[in-house]
Amino acid sequence: MAQTINTRVTRTDARRKVTGAATYAADEIPAGMLHGALACSSIAVGTVTSINTSVAEAEPGVVAVYTHETLPDYKTVKGFYAGGPGSASFWPMEGTEIRYAGQPVAYVVAETAAAARRGADLVEVSYEEGESRIHMTPDDSFVVGAGEDSDGMILDQGDLQAGLDSAAQSVDMTFTTPFQHHNPMEMFAATAEWRGDRLTVWMPSQSVRTLRAGIAGAYGLPETSVRVISSFVGGAFGSKAGITPYTMLTIAAAKGVGAPVRLIVTRPQMYTVATFRPESEQKFRLGADAEGRLTAFEHIETAQTSQFDMVVNAGTHITRAMYACPNIRTEQRLSRSDTNTGGFMRAPNEMQTFWGLESAMDELAWKLEMDPVELRRVNDAREHPTEGVPFSSRSLMESYDAVAQSFGWADRGREVGSMTDGDWLVGYGCATATYPTNILASNARVRMQASGNAYIALAAHDVGTGTYTIMAQVAAARLGVPVEAVDVVMGEASFPVAPISGGSTTAASAGSAVHDGCMKIAQQVATRVSAMSEGPLSGVDPAQVTLDDGTLRGPNGQSQSLAEALSMLPEGEVEVIGEFRHPALTNELVAATFKGGYGTAGPVTPDFAMFAFGAEMAEVHIHRYTHEIRVPRLHGAFAAGTWLNRKTAHSQLLGGMVWGIGSALHEVTETDSARSRFLNANIAEYLIPVNADIREVRVEMLEEQDDYVNPLGVKGIGELGIVGTAAAIGNAVYHATGTRLTSLPIRMSDLV
Ligand code: MOS
Repeated sequence: MAQTINTRVTRTDARRKVTGAATYAADEIPAGMLHGALACSSIAVGTVTSINTSVAEAEPGVVAVYTHETLPDYKTVKGFYAGGPGSASFWPMEGTEIRYAGQPVAYVVAETAAAARRGADLVEVSYEEGESRIHMTPDDSFVVGAGEDSDGMILDQGDLQAGLDSAAQSVDMTFTTPFQHHNPMEMFAATAEWRGDRLTVWMPSQSVRTLRAGIAGAYGLPETSVRVISSFVGGAFGSKAGITPYTMLTIAAAKGVGAPVRLIVTRPQMYTVATFRPESEQKFRLGADAEGRLTAFEHIETAQTSQFDMVVNAGTHITRAMYACPNIRTEQRLSRSDTNTGGFMRAPNEMQTFWGLESAMDELAWKLEMDPVELRRVNDAREHPTEGVPFSSRSLMESYDAVAQSFGWADRGREVGSMTDGDWLVGYGCATATYPTNILASNARVRMQASGNAYIALAAHDVGTGTYTIMAQVAAARLGVPVEAVDVVMGEASFPVAPISGGSTTAASAGSAVHDGCMKIAQQVATRVSAMSEGPLSGVDPAQVTLDDGTLRGPNGQSQSLAEALSMLPEGEVEVIGEFRHPALTNELVAATFKGGYGTAGPVTPDFAMFAFGAEMAEVHIHRYTHEIRVPRLHGAFAAGTWLNRKTAHSQLLGGMVWGIGSALHEVTETDSARSRFLNANIAEYLIPVNADIREVRVEMLEEQDDYVNPLGVKGIGELGIVGTAAAIGNAVYHATGTRLTSLPIRMSDLV
């Protein structure tokens, strides 16, 4: 049997995707379906004083125009940061209150999508506008849960001031990151169909079970009465994780008109009706002795949040895990402004915080006249600096050494501005990447037949990352069948429990459940055939039978292929529920996942700290006269336990690095401060890197064994690639120009 893990396997759904056979949520058209459209608020704060729907209602094709006064049976759920499944705690169209620009104020249902949009444009809303502010103000920020500190929102270890006082060199720097918005290729969409009190919802989702539990709970229905289907997802990255207003509004509207309704959110509305990356400020004070050993580490993160939720993504919990230091102080702060609630966006704690941390480390290296790689080496922590447990595996310096080799770091000029290429100033920069290994419970139904075909079902998702393929690979490797012989179905809430596809958890958690299912099949089959009077495993102690690439092996060299053994069973197949329950998962956490929540253990357990690591190096060219910035080379080396699929893993790391170039040089949601609106709310004006911006991006994947994280030894990689990129580029800009930039994105106008 060919090796199926740690190899390059082309996506099993590739043909279906490129031929259009793969059905995304909005491709499902139930009979009699009508079309929804949102009318959204033009003010950020205030009240709706009146809504005139008569013009919209007179528009040909318009079936109904709902407002807060007329929408029947509209239900809401608790927001995520209040412990619920919703994207925010404040729900539009419950009353007249407006709390963010672009808040839905009316829902139009029509016979065509065009008529619905026209109808939405014709809804006339009058407001009384109040004062608003879109940007956070770190000066009136606050600590979450101050005084109790139960979640480590303030951590004070050792004596920071003494560490700063004794330092040979220190830095005190403040960095900022902007609002960024999700632009997945697949728009946000929801289709709802009621049949009596049974409801079906098609929606691109990172957590179909969160959706089902939340919707069923809101309507007081048993979960078995609600179907949630999300077979394919065209990009998510955190934007399709929670239950958003557009979903609940569509469900209510479908009930109101007595027909299925589909809403596809417009691109501009995608900037207001869902989550985004909040702006942030990152303050660092670092001190080091003459050899570069850290004597003081302080990180204060202030993140923007809405007026009605506290978005706590706790980036300080990750930065303080990076480097050994006796005196560590971290503080997690929030500052409110008048937006919808932000949330998760690829590496939601790490992108912002590592821009600050790794830029500050670079500055410290310059002050110490030290190679920045060596500064990381002397501070490489063998145990978690504040939790006192060892890392289950940590290949940070192996990553630096590998990337330094491939990049040619040794050729870096020692002085600022020492490297040029014609009219271009050349700089090299490096930065650390990390991502926590979050552990969630998962189940998976696994069936194998004597024919050699296998079948897997679980409520996991393929958000574009290759989950269909890697689940098939895990089963193929264990059961000894070709990948093509494994049929995988996912993305439906009624399938066995799988966790939210967020926090880079799916491969590790769901993959381990598939692995367990294969092992259970082997045990059941061994038990059955060992009890038979004939056959190669007859009379063998089944507890001593192992499964090795599809072959059952007894203790004394007896062996039989799993498929052959299955053919001896009258039913010719075995089906089991595989389970992943990491020892660090408490019953409470498992129960949370089963209820559709986010029951994560880790990244720190009583025994180990679990993180994936990497290192990135960037070469930038800056034109001497125009200050145009180019990134001709970006190399990364990463270690994240077992690579299941070297092709899809490579793509995720590469994609993360490309997005990182976007964060470094392009991406920002511009704001209209006077009206508290997001301005460039369209993919045409929201700058992202295009082909011309991306030159050589090289990904090196290191081997790493970690027996603690899960039986497959897999750590998550969906977010790791983006983490170090912005700082690596910023540090290269400093090397080239001597200008230390502290706010993202870096623009040519910053380099005067
Ligand atoms: Mo990811 S930002 O955890 O979907």
